[in-house]
Amino acid sequence: MTELRLRVNGATTVLSLPPQVSLLDALREHLGLTGTKKGCDQGACGACTVLADGVRINSCLALAVQYEDAEITTIEGLDHPLQTAFVRHDGLQCGYCTPGQLCSAVGMLAEHRAAPDGELTGAEIRERMSGNLCRCGAYNGIVDAIQEVAS
Ligand code: FES
Repeated sequence: MTELRLRVNGATTVLSLPPQVSLLDALREHLGLTGTKKGCDQGACGACTVLADGVRINSCLALAVQYEDAEITTIEGLDHPLQTAFVRHDGLQCGYCTPGQLCSAVGMLAEHRAAPDGELTGAEIRERMSGNLCRCGAYNGIVDAIQEVAS
């Protein structure tokens, strides 16, 4: 077991975990933050996306111990205009991928603000969000919501 301080959504919790526990499992199983979803558990779907110091990461591929000094934001702590934009544009159907889509979009917009390299067209947003899959196919609404907030 490893003793670990995790700072999530502004609260610090000390956990005792085996060192191989992923950040995703630490959030869901040990902190009860089940808003972050487990899809593939191997870095292919993006359902588990959270923000670490504002940078989007796949929490299924991250060890919790790697993020002891980071500020983790999950969907439970997110407060961003994208959330209402997703609702306005029907950027979801079943909603399973939505927490990951939102965290990824927030991180993507921050990346683009930090290093602007052209307009965020629909095609560009699709490319930058290609790590987040939606099995319901709500991509048009997702792209429209992101484009509205980005403009
Ligand atoms: Fe992490 Fe699919 S659950 S990428």
